[in-house]
Amino acid sequence: MIWIGLDIATALSDALAKRTVQTPVFFLCSQTTHPLCQDLIDMADIKVPASHILAVADGENAKDLHTCESIYKWLQSTGAMRNALLINVGGGALCDVGGFCAATYQRGIAFWNIPTTLLAMVDASVGGKNGINLGHHKNYIGTFQKAEHIFVSPHWLSSLPDSELLSGWAEVIKHGTIDGGKHFHQILKAIPSTKDQQTWLGLIEWNIKTKSRIVESDFTEAAERKLLNLGHTIGHALESWSRDAGKPLPHGNAVAWGLVIETQLATAISPNIEETKGLHESLQTLVCNTYPTLDIDKNDVPQIINYIRADKKNEQETLLFSLAFAPGHCQYNITIPEELVTQVLNDFSHDSH
Ligand SMILES: NC(=O)c1ccc[n+]([C@@H]2O[C@H](COP(=O)([O-])OP(=O)(O)OC[C@H]3O[C@@H](n4cnc5c(N)ncnc54)[C@H](O)[C@@H]3O)[C@@H](O)[C@H]2O)c1
Repeated sequence: MIWIGLDIATALSDALAKRTVQTPVFFLCSQTTHPLCQDLIDMADIKVPASHILAVADGENAKDLHTCESIYKWLQSTGAMRNALLINVGGGALCDVGGFCAATYQRGIAFWNIPTTLLAMVDASVGGKNGINLGHHKNYIGTFQKAEHIFVSPHWLSSLPDSELLSGWAEVIKHGTIDGGKHFHQILKAIPSTKDQQTWLGLIEWNIKTKSRIVESDFTEAAERKLLNLGHTIGHALESWSRDAGKPLPHGNAVAWGLVIETQLATAISPNIEETKGLHESLQTLVCNTYPTLDIDKNDVPQIINYIRADKKNEQETLLFSLAFAPGHCQYNITIPEELVTQVLNDFSHDSH
C-alpha cells in the first residue's frame, strides 16, 4: 500500500494498529533523520524502546556491507525474529540499505518505507529494488522485494537542503521525459516552493504512478522497467567516478547530467534527428540553468568509460542504454559503440587546467 498525504503520524499509527498480529517494530534512520524519526514516533504515540531505534551513517556511506553487518547485529541483539517489522525513515540511501537488510535478515522480514527526501519520495522508496554498493560500483548487490507499506508526505521537504531538493528533481525530470505531454511541460517550469504542499502532493502522486505503472508491468527488470534507467548508465558512472575523485556528486545531479549526455548519444543514432536534438537542447538548457556545472577533465573520460563498461545492465562486451528520443518516446536495450560514448563524453569535458 502506498499512502500519500500530509498527516503522516496518524497514517502510521493507524497502520500499526491495524496489523493483525502486533509483532516487534524496529526503526532504522540515519544521523540526520534520527530527530525526524523520533518526532514521528512521538507524534504518532508509538511505544518503542530506545534499543529498537538505530541511526546509521548518512547517505551513500551507509550503502555498504559493513553497515549491513551492523544492522543485522543490531536486529539480532535486540531479539528480532522473522515476524519483526523494520521501518526505514530516511532518504534513498537509507531506504536502499534498510530494504536490503530486511530482505536478507533471516531470509526476509517485512519492511515499511518512510521516505524523507524528494528523491526517495518520487523514486527510491517505491518499486522494491534494494541495492548497496560494492566499493564505488553502484547497487552491485541487491534484492527485489517490495516494502509492505510506503508512507509519503511532502511534510519532510521543509527541512531538506536546496541541494537535496535539486538532486531529487532529477528523477522528476526523468519521469517527465518518460511520460511526455503535460508532465514534460511541468518539468520545464520552476521547482515549486517546499511551502506549497498541495502542489507537491500532486507532483509526488504522478511520479509514483509513472514509476509504479512500469514496475507493475516488469518487476524484475527483464524488459520495460529498464526505461527507468534513463540517464542512469552515464549517471551512475559519473557518480562512481566523482567518489573516486574525492568530489562526490549527489545521485540526482549525476542523473541530470546523465540525461543530457545520453540524449546527445540518442541524437547521434536517432531516426528523427531534429526531434531528438530538440529534446537534448531542452534538457541541456534546463540542467545548465538548474544544476552546478559538470566538471570533467578529458583525462577522466577513460575512468568514466570503465565504470560504464562495468554497468550491470550490459551484456557480454556490449554497452546497453535506455534512451529518450522525444518526450514520451523512450527505448531500452539500445547498443551504443564505445567509441561514440567516448566521443560524446569528450565533448562534455575540458582540457586539463
Ligand atoms: N532503490 C531504488 O529504486 C532507487 C532509485 C533511485 C535512487 N536510489 C538510490 O537513492 C540514493 C539517493 O537518495 P537521496 O537522494 O535521497 O540521498 P540520501 O539518501 O543520500 O540523502 C541525502 C541527505 O539528506 C539527508 N536527509 C534525508 N532526509 C532529510 C530531511 N527531511 N531533511 C534534511 N536532511 C535529510 C540524508 O541524511 C542525507 O545526508 C542513491 O544511493 C541511489 O542509488 C535508489
